[in-house]
Amino acid sequence: MFLRLKFIAFVAVVSVALAVAVDVDKNADLVAKLRVANTNLDRMNLLPNDADWLFDFTKQDKYTFSPGGVINANSATFPAATGQGMTMSMLNLGPCSMLPPHLHPRAANYVVAISGTTQTYMIAENGARTVTETLQAGQMTIFPQASIHTMMNIGCENAQLISALSSDDTGTTNLANAFFSFPQNISGTVIGGGLNTQAIYGRVPPFGTGSNAGPHDCIAACAKKGKMIKRQPPARDE
Ligand SMILES: *[C@@H]1O[C@H](CO)[C@@H](O)[C@H](O)[C@H]1NC(C)=O
Repeated sequence: MFLRLKFIAFVAVVSVALAVAVDVDKNADLVAKLRVANTNLDRMNLLPNDADWLFDFTKQDKYTFSPGGVINANSATFPAATGQGMTMSMLNLGPCSMLPPHLHPRAANYVVAISGTTQTYMIAENGARTVTETLQAGQMTIFPQASIHTMMNIGCENAQLISALSSDDTGTTNLANAFFSFPQNISGTVIGGGLNTQAIYGRVPPFGTGSNAGPHDCIAACAKKGKMIKRQPPARDE
């Protein structure tokens, strides 16, 4: 009985987490119809209003600079993107904020800086060198499909970037969340030294808005300059 209650609580927590963490279908029925529509004219008839073709990044839940957020216009959040072969994303990073190391299983990713100074790292596969760039406004880099990449705002001003991805359903896999979710006898064995990887897993930030707060040193230095907005305590919502 107690176990069953625990299981129900677990399911409830996980469902809430998914709703917050990953893009939720805004209109799954419409997207399903768009995917099977015979012709483009059929698709146009399924999107009859001008409002169906407008996506406002600034009005989405993940549009925040505290610490930051990844706002995706894709088939889940913007049905008109269905079948277009692209996702357009806006990346907001508050001072020092980062996107933790992750990959997109189904998309190459072109990232253009609009403002701020953002350091990026990319590893294409085992044996490939680590490519790193510091992006200023007007500069871009490429994260090839399934490459592991991460970025950090290394300035004390907000940074904003635009990301174009080659699928309307890119997927995102966070490395630390995936690795530390494996049993101790897998992740603990890889790391060795008797480290309790389940305890580490409890410290890995949830997917949240896609962005995490950055290093303490950076935040402290920016706070000294009066550049940090007051933060909400991070929600443990994964
Ligand atoms: C590894 O740990 C998992 C979860 O605790 C367990 O189910 C599995 O049997 C273990 N495997 C080995 C080889 O001990």
